[in-house]
Amino acid sequence: MVQETHVSAANLIFPLFIVDGVNQKTEVASMPGIFRYSIDNLLREVESCMKLGLNSFDLFPNISEELKDKYATESHREESLYLRAIREVKNNFPEACVITDVAMDPYSSDGHDGIVENGEILNDETLVVLGRMALAQAYAGADIIAPSDMMDGRVGYIRKTLDDAGFKHVSIMSYSAKYASAFYGPFRDALNSAPKFGDKKSYQMNPANQREALIESRLDEAEGADFLMVKPALAYLDVIKLIKDNTELPVAAYNVSGEYAMLKAAVQKGWLDEQHAITEVLTSIRRAGATAILTYHAKEVLENKWL
Ligand code: PBG
Repeated sequence: MVQETHVSAANLIFPLFIVDGVNQKTEVASMPGIFRYSIDNLLREVESCMKLGLNSFDLFPNISEELKDKYATESHREESLYLRAIREVKNNFPEACVITDVAMDPYSSDGHDGIVENGEILNDETLVVLGRMALAQAYAGADIIAPSDMMDGRVGYIRKTLDDAGFKHVSIMSYSAKYASAFYGPFRDALNSAPKFGDKKSYQMNPANQREALIESRLDEAEGADFLMVKPALAYLDVIKLIKDNTELPVAAYNVSGEYAMLKAAVQKGWLDEQHAITEVLTSIRRAGATAILTYHAKEVLENKWL
């Protein structure tokens, strides 16, 4: 009667990794229980999630090295693995909510989220690539476009690109406060997308800053974002709360790969109670103010009836 916070299937978004080929299902070494699926197996996975009431998916592609280039051209090639996967999921499960990732890194030979020239990220030139990518994803059937790149001005640019092409109904979930975090390591293993040099500190946020998250979020809101996101979640619960208190938009939080990995590693060693730790993590992210949680725990909490 007095419990203030609840987590339900409707709050959860399940990130899924896609790999080329047929009948592939390979576990990510640093993320026990999380797999890269070929499209056929991806469809089976989506179906089994939907039977559990889990309807929202965020897709990420593992692109083979020879398809990567400086301008991430594979990201908007019509027959690319990623665009085929979006079309297949939407054709087979029209009622699934498909969230798509906009950023250059999975397709970039430099492993960065933007175009690199002489060691610098070219912000404005990158927007053109992001716009093409977002548009190709909208044509493929994406319901929500989620730019995770942190270039300045990309929400407005993508919004205009989508609107001009008649995709007014496609929403934007902006990674608005995304920090330059150590906790993305396992995700970069999953996609083989680690930067080939340098780091992402010139475009992702300084973990020491809280007020800057407000600046970033307000800009994205003014540019037309439909959701604001804070990422990672656990080391940034104060930021989730701050954003929640300063917007009427829905707030999402990304319970990232490193947060998943450290919990699972401790569970494997018998150092934590799995059910208790996972439900406490998800509840705390909801309590801080997130309505949507992107989490690798999404399926297991429903399968085990832990919510
Ligand atoms: C890159 C991207 C990253 C994640 C989502 N999109 C990693 C990065 O910025 O290097 C991380 C997600 C996770 O760690 O679970 N555009």
